[in-house]
Amino acid sequence: MSGYQQEYLKAQTEPEAFWRDQAEQLDWFEKPKTILANDENGIERWFPDGVMNTAWLALDYHCENGRGDKTALIYDSPVTAKRQAYSYFELRDQVAKIAGMLAGMGVEKGDRVVIYMPMVPEAAMAMLACARLGVIHSVVFGGFAPNELAVRIEDAEPKVLMTASCGIEVSKVIPYKPLVDKAIMDSRWKPEKVVVLQRPESAATLDQERDVDWQTAYEAAQPHDCVPVLATDPLYILYTSGTTGKPKGVVRDNGGHAVAMKYSMKAVYDMPQDGVFWAASDVGWVVGHSYIVYAPLIHGCTTILFEGKPVRTPDPGAFWRVCQDYGVNVLFSAPTAFRAIKKEDPEGNYVNEYDLSSLKSIFMAGERLDPPTYDWVVEKTGKPVIDHWWQTETGWAIACDPMGIEVMPVKAGSSTKPTPGYQVEVLDALGNSLKANQQGYVALKRPLPPSCLPTVWRNHDRFETGYLSQFPGYYVSGDGGYLDEEGYLFIMGRIDDVINVAGHRLSTGEMEEIVGAHPAVAECAVIGIHDELKGQLPVGFVVLKDGVDIASDQLAGELVAKVREEIGAVACFKLALVVDRLPKTRSGKILRRTMRQIADGEQYVVPSTIDDPSSLNEIERVLQR
Ligand code: COA
Ligand code: AMP
Repeated sequence: MSGYQQEYLKAQTEPEAFWRDQAEQLDWFEKPKTILANDENGIERWFPDGVMNTAWLALDYHCENGRGDKTALIYDSPVTAKRQAYSYFELRDQVAKIAGMLAGMGVEKGDRVVIYMPMVPEAAMAMLACARLGVIHSVVFGGFAPNELAVRIEDAEPKVLMTASCGIEVSKVIPYKPLVDKAIMDSRWKPEKVVVLQRPESAATLDQERDVDWQTAYEAAQPHDCVPVLATDPLYILYTSGTTGKPKGVVRDNGGHAVAMKYSMKAVYDMPQDGVFWAASDVGWVVGHSYIVYAPLIHGCTTILFEGKPVRTPDPGAFWRVCQDYGVNVLFSAPTAFRAIKKEDPEGNYVNEYDLSSLKSIFMAGERLDPPTYDWVVEKTGKPVIDHWWQTETGWAIACDPMGIEVMPVKAGSSTKPTPGYQVEVLDALGNSLKANQQGYVALKRPLPPSCLPTVWRNHDRFETGYLSQFPGYYVSGDGGYLDEEGYLFIMGRIDDVINVAGHRLSTGEMEEIVGAHPAVAECAVIGIHDELKGQLPVGFVVLKDGVDIASDQLAGELVAKVREEIGAVACFKLALVVDRLPKTRSGKILRRTMRQIADGEQYVVPSTIDDPSSLNEIERVLQR
């Protein structure tokens, strides 16, 4: 039996023994006696009586064990021309003071803190400071508009919001504070304090009652120790797009998450403890949570926090420059980032300018790794390129080529095989297992391994209905795909109203709610269509109300502005087309899949249930224009 098969079978047949062994790798305050038990909702929970602290594992533990002088975090910011390295001692001490600063504001274990920050070291420190106090953080990606921030504030009800005066996007300075002020004004929940990190590129005006200057409060604060928490206590809430306008608060626990993070660093990425790991993502996304902040630090590695883009900061050599300068061993980013590099440097000339001898492998996730991008990166870098599939809900790879267990041959378009701990099956609409190569719903058999969400924040029904009730005994991933005869998994895309734009997960349902609310619009459909660079881009199709007189261009402009204002620039909603009618089934369901196939130029079969086949010609007609 191969190394992978052995490990996979052990995790499948003896999950408690398997994960007990993995838990042994961590420094618990009280080791768990119970490995797996059901909670009051009947959901499987890992290590329920274990007591620990995630910030302790990420920082103090290394300081106590002779690794305090090792570099923990490197900040590299081409947009501000700054670079700074923090040792484990330095990072621990700063995090302890930020924890003290929060405690001084009355923030206690179980309270929430929202973090809306650009890619500065203080963002990671803020997360770790919350973890230190047993406080639940909720990071909101900086590209989201005030409305999105307001929705998250209302749901998480934070005592404190932490922000910076501005973010920097290539050469554009984006003041954050006005966005925060608007979000709080629009939200029914008001944080008691807003802590603002002033950046020299654009200082913010502070409100005397509510706002706190980060630096002043930091200097006055006393360091705070790690607060013991139960493994099942939440570490963070991370909101992600679902099929409706309201994002889902994915809850991550402390213990299961730490165990999975530690396990994955070796099993998935084959990282040595003294290695340098770089996830070129943003702390606002799950990749940033897991692999910029928690996993590399828990494993004792050096992590890199990069405030820049793969291109234009200043050129398509940025990734290779960082890999060379810090001796990066594993680089992890989204395929879209490499497509952007390929577009600007098709011959790979920049790759050859840098010494990439330390780089062992390149991992990709966030969207399907398309074979042309895979081929280009392999050809230009000569490095192993590994596609791995995961979700905000799991926090780590569901399927991968586990470099630390056994390197399996790559099949382009496949994220290889289920990671030990996950039991992946492909089901038909009735929940029956499908045969090899048959496409269906990709589902995970319960129990899910450590780190996977146990609930949706303050909405357990949504967890049950959105993920568990469709196929009893399974978690439904929302992705469609198939397993081939050798057990390789091919993820073919979402089967719900979620799209992936430049590796960012967005809800077309939410965009439809915004577009449909325009006074001129009778009904609409927003679909994700193929885009060479960003993978997918949203396009809106709108039907006007009878008697409305508005020029198509004017309406399109208003709709684009509205989506940008409500969701944010990151939605990349730039095209709205007026049609006479939308293609529907006789029961009134909009045929979004067929519309997408038409837009992508794919072969399609006219659904037998269609009400008016000529409505498809209408879609073809407007797209040709
Ligand atoms: N704060 C404020 N605005 C932001 C932002 C942030 N943190 N991130 C993005 N935006 C804005 C951008 O400025 C841009 O605004 P514009 O319409 O005014 O130009 C818009 O949101 C779209 O941004 P983006 O999708 O990043 O497009 P881009 O053209 O600037 O860059 C890529 C394209 C491919 C280089 C970029 O999307 C990328 O690096 N993607 C990698 C994705 C990734 O890391 N995913 C995480 C999962 S691994
Ligand atoms: P997020 O929760 O933002 O990480 O997005 C998760 C979604 O991104 C998944 O449900 C998939 O649709 C998609 N995704 C992530 N990684 C991959 C991958 N390697 N291959 C195909 N799709 C992926």
